[in-house]
Amino acid sequence: MSEIPTLEGTPQREHWGSKFGVILAVAGSAVGLGNFLRFPGQAVNNGGGAFMIPYIVSFLILGIPICWCEWTMGRLGGRFGQNNGPGVMFALWRRGPAKGIGALTLFIPVVVYMYYVFVEAWCLQYAVHFFRGGFAELFGTALAEASGETTDVEAIVGASGAYFGESVGMANNGDVFRKGNMVWMVLICFAVNFVIIYKGVTRGIETFCKVAMPMLLVCACIILVRVLTLDGISSGLGFMWNPKWESLADPQVWLAAAGQIFFTLSVGFGLILCYSSYLRKDDDVVLTSLSASSTNEFCEVVLGGMIVVPTAFLFLGAENAAGTTFGLGFVTLPAIMHFMPGGSFFGGMWFGLLFLAAVTSSLSMLQPAIAFLEDGFGLKRTASVLLLGVITAIGAIVPMYFTHGLVGLDHTDFWCNFMMIIAATAQVLLFGWVIGAERGCREANRGADVKLPSFMPFVLRYVTPTFLLVVLGAWAFTNAPGYIDGMRPALRGVEAARGVYEPVIADHFSEENLGEEQIEARSEAILGADADPNQLPEWLAPHAEEAGKARTAAEADANAARWVFIGLVLFYGLLLGLTDIACRNRIGRNIAAAEANGVCLEA
Ligand code: TRP
Repeated sequence: MSEIPTLEGTPQREHWGSKFGVILAVAGSAVGLGNFLRFPGQAVNNGGGAFMIPYIVSFLILGIPICWCEWTMGRLGGRFGQNNGPGVMFALWRRGPAKGIGALTLFIPVVVYMYYVFVEAWCLQYAVHFFRGGFAELFGTALAEASGETTDVEAIVGASGAYFGESVGMANNGDVFRKGNMVWMVLICFAVNFVIIYKGVTRGIETFCKVAMPMLLVCACIILVRVLTLDGISSGLGFMWNPKWESLADPQVWLAAAGQIFFTLSVGFGLILCYSSYLRKDDDVVLTSLSASSTNEFCEVVLGGMIVVPTAFLFLGAENAAGTTFGLGFVTLPAIMHFMPGGSFFGGMWFGLLFLAAVTSSLSMLQPAIAFLEDGFGLKRTASVLLLGVITAIGAIVPMYFTHGLVGLDHTDFWCNFMMIIAATAQVLLFGWVIGAERGCREANRGADVKLPSFMPFVLRYVTPTFLLVVLGAWAFTNAPGYIDGMRPALRGVEAARGVYEPVIADHFSEENLGEEQIEARSEAILGADADPNQLPEWLAPHAEEAGKARTAAEADANAARWVFIGLVLFYGLLLGLTDIACRNRIGRNIAAAEANGVCLEA
């Protein structure tokens, strides 16, 4: 059904094939590494069971309302012939700031893709390694070589950590390109993603998700059953889920919960805008979006929350069960498989599942940009796929190159998360205040299988934006300073050198029975900001070389972080420029043509 006259030979607009298909495609976008890796880490480090309170609150007043806004705006924009974020935004609000938000809706998904695809490649590499018995061999050797003092757990976790470090090139920047086959894995991931994208929304994304999502769910359920039938698993479940109530008073926990909701629902920054623009005018949005979100929550809380951490606790103990996201996912988890009956098989299955989940998500990061190149510049599919392929390949080199301490990935991720909150805030304000919450909710209710609750306009106008602004402020004040300091080579260099000297100094004075403050004062006297390295006391001088190395490495990391930031700013500028050009030309003309045909916000 084509609702508008096609202009300048625009190919006939695509629509989703079926409601089931949309739900699976959107759920596929939402269910990803965030569910199986990020969530368990966040929950266990932020109060266990008590994390669920801020998490559910965030789901109800951020996740769901923003979802409804975004779905409604996307479907509206689709009526103007726009499947791309900037076009949808511009159709709804013919003002300059709409272009700024529009550019964000391209920027965030594309940049996230640039590092997400790297992690996707790790999953593939791990799945292959498991199925080929590589881990069994690795752990066997580690046990055989372990000295009498290390326990089995230590030996296995150690070997697993070393394998991870080597696979992703943690030791030196550029290692990924020098050794191993990770580059090949990344190329395979690129190929898989772009082939599916090339086939289009219905024949590519929808078809793939209809197969991948059920497969993923079945695999996850099999693993869950295996886990829940392990002897003594209840202690692990208790470790994960018993609430530490005092954590509710910690603002950081609330921030973590809100951040997790954004990331996992992939809501608020343009990709749902894109997906929902392929709906028809009277297709339901209210229940459909709710179904997709609920599928995501099932995968996150039930499947993500009951597998990784409880088994880690059961087999490896508390100290290994509370690691960082990547530590849990790529160091602890493979180690668990050594202790679990049938480990190689379940390990391969687990990483295969992660890979599928990652692909259905990364597809959703590419489609908005493809739609923009097609709608905005009239590019053909082949051209847009090739162009985006080149752009994302260049971008992906950054996190793949700066792998020392995973600085490239970490900083890109941080700034993207920051931008996500800004984009979501902008979208909700646009919906609540520019389109108007009442009018917007009326539009959402058209064709809806269930109606929005009557208090929704109030929530969208006041509650959600307020919560978002608080989160944004808290994020800016508590998390951003650390990352800004991370871009200061001089500062980071001095800190790193001190990190080497200070234990030596403390050790040197340990016999004198000094208090902590006194040690600090002496250490300050020796290392004072402008102390000349050549004047170090004799007993400290032998450590100068090590300190110098640490300093150089830290400076390099900070420089990398700085380049990442500059690159992101420039890329956003580029997208903003392109958005402006497209809105002045093709997008603007097509919107005008649609309007001339009677399409308007109130239909
Ligand atoms: N929701 C996905 C996950 O949980 C991540 C994701 C998919 C995403 N698409 C996105 C994150 C776009 C940022 C932008 O893993």
